[in-house]
Amino acid sequence: QISQATAYVVDKGNHRHFMEKEIYEQPEVISHALSHYVDFAENTIGANAAAIDFKAATGLAISACGTAYLAGLVGKYWFERYARLPVEIDVASEFRYREMPLSPSQAALFISQSGETADTLACLRYCRDNGLKIGAVVNVRESTIARESDAVFPIMAGPEIGVASTKAFTCQLAVLAALAIGAGKARGTVSADEERALVRHLAEMPRIMSRVLNLIQPQMESLSRELSKCKDVLYLGRGTSFPLAMEGALKLKEISYIHAEGYAAGELKHGPIALIDENMPVIVIAPYDRFFEKTVSNMQEVAARGGRIIFITDEAGAAASKLPTMATITLPVVDEIIAPMIFSLPIQLLAYHTAVFMGTDVDQPRNLAKSVTVE
Ligand code: AGP
Repeated sequence: QISQATAYVVDKGNHRHFMEKEIYEQPEVISHALSHYVDFAENTIGANAAAIDFKAATGLAISACGTAYLAGLVGKYWFERYARLPVEIDVASEFRYREMPLSPSQAALFISQSGETADTLACLRYCRDNGLKIGAVVNVRESTIARESDAVFPIMAGPEIGVASTKAFTCQLAVLAALAIGAGKARGTVSADEERALVRHLAEMPRIMSRVLNLIQPQMESLSRELSKCKDVLYLGRGTSFPLAMEGALKLKEISYIHAEGYAAGELKHGPIALIDENMPVIVIAPYDRFFEKTVSNMQEVAARGGRIIFITDEAGAAASKLPTMATITLPVVDEIIAPMIFSLPIQLLAYHTAVFMGTDVDQPRNLAKSVTVE
């Protein structure tokens, strides 16, 4: 088995930056990730997803940093919804010092592209010392976090060179979705029919991602020219779009150096609404799901105060909302289980093109390292 590095020619191909190349690699690497956990012929979750016995688990602790943490936050919604497993999640730098009461009957998942992040490794050791079963969702199988885990869940993304994580994020999401569905299957909270339906949606992802990347590219470049003139940007989302709002803000700030914040849309009136004016674009991430109407009412609050909205929705959402926007990015209608991966694409491309307009070092942004191996 040749290692991923030798099997992967690390060059930019015909892209300007590794980050752009990695954004466009997502359909291909997502299908690698899925094929490791899913039986496409039977539309079932395979044995590789069962390396941790979620059936016996009384709860799940998740810890990670940065983008990996935000993938874990999306995973929390899925484990709670599909496997009915209570999830305790925190950023690793807080988790490791909270002295959280844990029980050996719980499982723990650590998500790390590099598998070397010091804070995340410290949390793994804390949980292992407390007798928990440890799973690692990693991109580097030979990494320290992988070696110290009971079960390794590789994300198969291939080497990610750009400091800002893109393909690793969506592959982490794809693996977490497979693990959560598999946990639900083991715990009897996901029926065989539901499993087949969910897996069919996962299997559609690579094709939909390719279509979306080609569909939205021109609009992203033109919109990013506007964003590059801004000093502050607010991202809003509900449900699994809330961690996406934070991921969009993280992507923008870490490569374009524009201040950005991701917020639960329902929290708008508890403070951030005081920020709304015509200078700060509000990027609203809202597929036409069960939260859509509530998020539209948040958009009305923004519009009523002169705020400019960039609306990231789907065809059903675009048809349902008549609110004036600075721009509407319309994606295909997809099942809730794959919406976070599909809606990651516009937020990645918006950040990428904005950084290109800003002239920053997109692949090696200032002050950042690809792997934070110190506290
Ligand atoms: C991602 O865009 C960031 N560069 C950063 O937050 C990263 O996700 C974080 O440092 C965690 O790294 P890891 O996945 O290698 O543990």
